Amino acid sequence: MDHFAYRDGVMHAENVALPAIAEAVGTPVYVYSTATFRRHAQVFRDALKGAGRVHLAYAIKANPNVAVLRVLADEGYGADVVSAGEMQRALAAGIPASDIVFSGVGKTRRELAQALDAGIGQFNLELEEEGEVLAALAHARGERAPAVLRVNPDVDAGTHAKISTGRKENKFGVAIDQAVAMFDRLSKHDGLDLRGVAIHIGSQLADLAPLEAAYARIGELVAELRAAGHTISRVDLGGGLGVPYKPDDVLPSPADYGAMVARATADWDVELMFEPGRVIAGNAGVLLTEVIWVKPGVVNPYVIVDAAMNDLARVAMYDAYHDFVAVAPTGDRMTANIAGPVCETGDTFAMGRDIDAVKSGDLGIFRTAGAYGATMASTYNSRALVPEVLVDGDRFAVVADRIHPETILAAERVPEWLKR
Ligand code: LLP
Repeated sequence: MDHFAYRDGVMHAENVALPAIAEAVGTPVYVYSTATFRRHAQVFRDALKGAGRVHLAYAIKANPNVAVLRVLADEGYGADVVSAGEMQRALAAGIPASDIVFSGVGKTRRELAQALDAGIGQFNLELEEEGEVLAALAHARGERAPAVLRVNPDVDAGTHAKISTGRKENKFGVAIDQAVAMFDRLSKHDGLDLRGVAIHIGSQLADLAPLEAAYARIGELVAELRAAGHTISRVDLGGGLGVPYKPDDVLPSPADYGAMVARATADWDVELMFEPGRVIAGNAGVLLTEVIWVKPGVVNPYVIVDAAMNDLARVAMYDAYHDFVAVAPTGDRMTANIAGPVCETGDTFAMGRDIDAVKSGDLGIFRTAGAYGATMASTYNSRALVPEVLVDGDRFAVVADRIHPETILAAERVPEWLKR
């Protein structure tokens, strides 16, 4: 459930009519709903009530806006970060360092040192050498770095290949059959406090079965590690729960997921960590756009909107579906293609779709754009970096400015030898 709805025929975010935001800030612009973020954070937490000791670390990559992080920090969420930049954001939002988990296959030595200095709560190790380097860095500081070993359980998550992470050929985690021996070796380092294991098999998971299979393998691994004499106090189950993108999509609910987790982990006796991203942020944001032209087409007309693949990359990258509706629908329908202004055929949001009839100057939204939207934006075609607005009840604020092409141009230099 989200807080984007029609009121008197006009789409609102909570109590704010979207045309008011378009007028104040311009388009394209991402619009987020505080109440939706809070609701999703609470629903996900409640769903895991039956799963024992739980630590929630919001996967910042989904939507790293500092105002959004502040809302989620208020809800008691820690953070899952994958770079020093994300770590800085989490800290800036007031998330305690001890509630930060550092994931990622390519943490640099510098980033490991920065995270140690910050005192973060957990490093998710992706390879043995990373563990050795982290141990040495921590030892030199007279510390023990809290860590878990990320394991690749070799399951097919049944999602898009580009967001699948738990197959053996993927770059993530260590092969599950090597995990015990590696854990043995790493646990001998004074600088490491190796507490358990982690997995994350993919994103936008529409079926719980692969997750349950992966969790079963992790359960066996925990038993093997304990049999080998290790103390296992934490298991990080990652993120990945999918969200509905199409109006008629049916996905497992957080409650279904929570029930599966409680079942799968009943006898583990560990603190469970979770790294939800999309399920918290996805339906908490929309991309508000204006129709520039309706261009007659050979098969269908092209609705050319002022948002493009540089603002919302998911359609071009993963063939994703984002629902498009008019902000003030007339009741008429049209079959159309929807495309942005970027000079690539891939800059197409929909082909031959039945949508609200729109004309030049009308506003529309792409729904379910709160996760992996603004954060994946670029300035391709020298377009502005898209701004973000946060709504809370009947107020709204710009929480990320539009970065104009002239600002970006100002950071570029023509070297002396090319000047004339
Ligand atoms: N934990 C780890 C280690 C991850 O790699 C990810 C996502 C998450 C947690 C959060 O997963 P979520 O709950 O959001 O599914 N840009 C793509 C999604 C990439 C996901 C990468 N990893 C998209 O737009 O679909």
